[in-house]
Amino acid sequence: MPTVQRTQVGIVGAGPAGLVLSHLLHLHGIESIVLENRSRHYVEERVRAGVLEQNTVDLLNQMGVGDRLKREGLVHHGVELRFNGQGHRIDFRELTGGKGITIYAQAEVLKDLNNARIATGGQVLFEVEDVSVHEMNSSRPKIRYRKDGDECEVQCDFIAGCDGFHAICRPSIPAGVLTEYERAYPFGWLGILAEAPPSSDELIYAYHERGFALLSMRSPHISRLYIQCKPDEDINDWSDEQIWCELRTRLASASGWNLTEGPVQQKGVTGMRSFVVEPMQYGNLFLAGDSAHIVPPTGAKGLNLAITDVQILARGLEQYYAKGKRERLDHYSEICLRRVWKVQRFSWWMTSMLHRFPDDSPFDRRRQLAELDYVTSSRAAAKTLAENYVGLPLDDSLSGAGK
Ligand code: FAD
Ligand code: PHB
Repeated sequence: MPTVQRTQVGIVGAGPAGLVLSHLLHLHGIESIVLENRSRHYVEERVRAGVLEQNTVDLLNQMGVGDRLKREGLVHHGVELRFNGQGHRIDFRELTGGKGITIYAQAEVLKDLNNARIATGGQVLFEVEDVSVHEMNSSRPKIRYRKDGDECEVQCDFIAGCDGFHAICRPSIPAGVLTEYERAYPFGWLGILAEAPPSSDELIYAYHERGFALLSMRSPHISRLYIQCKPDEDINDWSDEQIWCELRTRLASASGWNLTEGPVQQKGVTGMRSFVVEPMQYGNLFLAGDSAHIVPPTGAKGLNLAITDVQILARGLEQYYAKGKRERLDHYSEICLRRVWKVQRFSWWMTSMLHRFPDDSPFDRRRQLAELDYVTSSRAAAKTLAENYVGLPLDDSLSGAGK
């Protein structure tokens, strides 16, 4: 017989979606158990996203996990688009009425959240094995797992599938329920983390005939840099010097700007895809974050979108436990998908504008340059980029969700 635990919400995955959900629920007096198959160290050291929208920063502050973010986060009020060797600044502050973004690594967000969960007695179980979900369509769904060889079962009212793209929750939904929408891109990003002071105060997105490049950062001492590469690129084929050489070429500017270099601490290749499942719920199982959708990283949206999903889910669960009403939960998927598709559109647009496609024609390249010229010379176009980049306002009203 398995060891049985009872909770209100069983959460699979201790990434940003799972941990934010667990802490938001705790702040509203709702119990949860989070099950994560990796170690805490692995999750907290994994190099991933770094750009937080204002909505995300505000939420983390309201949740009481924003102290270090306030101290160490780098607030930016613009980005540069670089093409034809010229830089063009998109001024977020001026175009959005004062908004900006904050550079703070996903791994640091996770450290802050884990510390807050532990300080408030939260149950986050790392290194669990063979997680499976059952009876999602009943009022008593169950999660089974093994921990240190023991069979365990969490009995709950709801399950949140926050287990990322290579997940078990989404594939556990019976065939025929979900519709998948997908686009794979014919390129990837080769990313490095380098001990080098960032060569720019703000992010630089560069379009170059050799392919896209991005200059980002993690702190005043650490740069995060990317180059477009083949989707199946083997990182071992690239020496550090080759990577720096490619970065220097693609980021070069006529103004005599120099790229600061330093020891490479970490490097890897990330694939690029757009993916959405509809609906994002089945019975009492709710999918959130990467388990329901993936965006290519060019819009810096993956982490922010995951956090918005669970913000919407938490409000539905709060309504259920405070008032016994399922209205918000029943419309969870519709409310999320309105935003998800807008963010998909933006991420696809940024990706299409800034990357070289293997089969592109001279016409396509001229069109991309015209688009960049337009975005950086028309206030209307720049404003569209800016309002999407800093984050669209959170609309979780039921009115657009068939209500
Ligand atoms: P995740 O962060 O993936 O968290 C899911 C968690 O579930 C993980 O901790 C995983 O270990 C756990 N899990 C998985 N399966 C199981 C299971 N069977 N049982 C229990 N636990 C399980 N976004 C950007 O905006 N910019 C970037 O530069 C960027 N870089 C990225 C690089 C990589 C390699 C990847 C994979 C993603 C990147 N993203 C980036 C996207 C961004 O990091 C994600 O959108 C974000 O992490 C989504 O959060 P999440 O909580 O939904 O999923
Ligand atoms: C990052 O800093 O890792 C980063 C920044 C902007 C992006 C993607 C990734 O669009």
